[in-house]
Amino acid sequence: MERLALLSHRLEEDVERANSILEQANQIVVLTGAGVSAESGIPTFRGRGGLWRSRRPEELATPEAFEESPELVWEWYQWRRRLIAECSPNAGHQALARLALKKDGVTLITQNVDGLHSRAAQTEAKALNIPDAQAAFPLEVHGAINRDRCSLCDRLTDAVSHFQLGPPQCNDCGGPLRPDVVWFGESLDPIIIGAAQEAALRADVCLVVGTSALVHPAAGLPSMTLRAGGLLIEVNLEATTLTNQAAVSLQGRSASLLPRVIKA
Ligand code: OAD
Repeated sequence: MERLALLSHRLEEDVERANSILEQANQIVVLTGAGVSAESGIPTFRGRGGLWRSRRPEELATPEAFEESPELVWEWYQWRRRLIAECSPNAGHQALARLALKKDGVTLITQNVDGLHSRAAQTEAKALNIPDAQAAFPLEVHGAINRDRCSLCDRLTDAVSHFQLGPPQCNDCGGPLRPDVVWFGESLDPIIIGAAQEAALRADVCLVVGTSALVHPAAGLPSMTLRAGGLLIEVNLEATTLTNQAAVSLQGRSASLLPRVIKA
């Protein structure tokens, strides 16, 4: 009982410290991963029940897999699109959107392709009477699942019906459409990852939420902030390779911790 009280007192102190570091910072970068959407009902990749626990990424998330089995890959992404369409942003997405809308110098970066940060940005901007939600739209370094891209001519379109069987054809060149997400073995958009790296380098604080920080180059962003003299705050259910380098490490669920860390 006493130990529990001590632990919750320590967590409370850590939350206060994280809050005060964020309040004092002029430039903040936030890097999120699948954990921030877990409480919205979207499975993570590597944790318990994670997508890569039952399927190998090479079967579903590589250009080679799409070439060999386009129907299978397409079907898996359509399943994820349907799942995501039924989910809503949680209190963690909302807190981050409020931070980015209300404080100058905040850059949101996400590895998630689910679009929940942008949806939270729109509802929070409306609630705060801010006409433009742009400041809270994240840099989506791994793409967006709700967009299709022609695998031949790169033309971008909104995703077609979630019930479409097999990849549809591009209206321009007839090539097969694929989701506009980054697959293993592919490069990230240099403009987007370049902007993310610039933001990480100039940040006083990098707030890292719900990522195992294993997939590069996104996983290297917090180290860029650290090397440039900034601080790291981590929010995660468990310890990661970044935990030892964090000025504050908050272990718990992001949907309950973020609204406490970001009070304003
Ligand atoms: P992972 O599945 O690797 O890691 C999710 C992290 O979230 C783990 O460290 C969990 O402990 C943590 N977590 C789970 N639930 C949480 C919660 N409620 N609150 C806080 N933390 C929680 O997902 P990512 O690190 O995002 O890439 O994976 C990185 C990339 O690998 C993904 O973007 C995807 C994947 O393959 C591509 O698709 C290119």
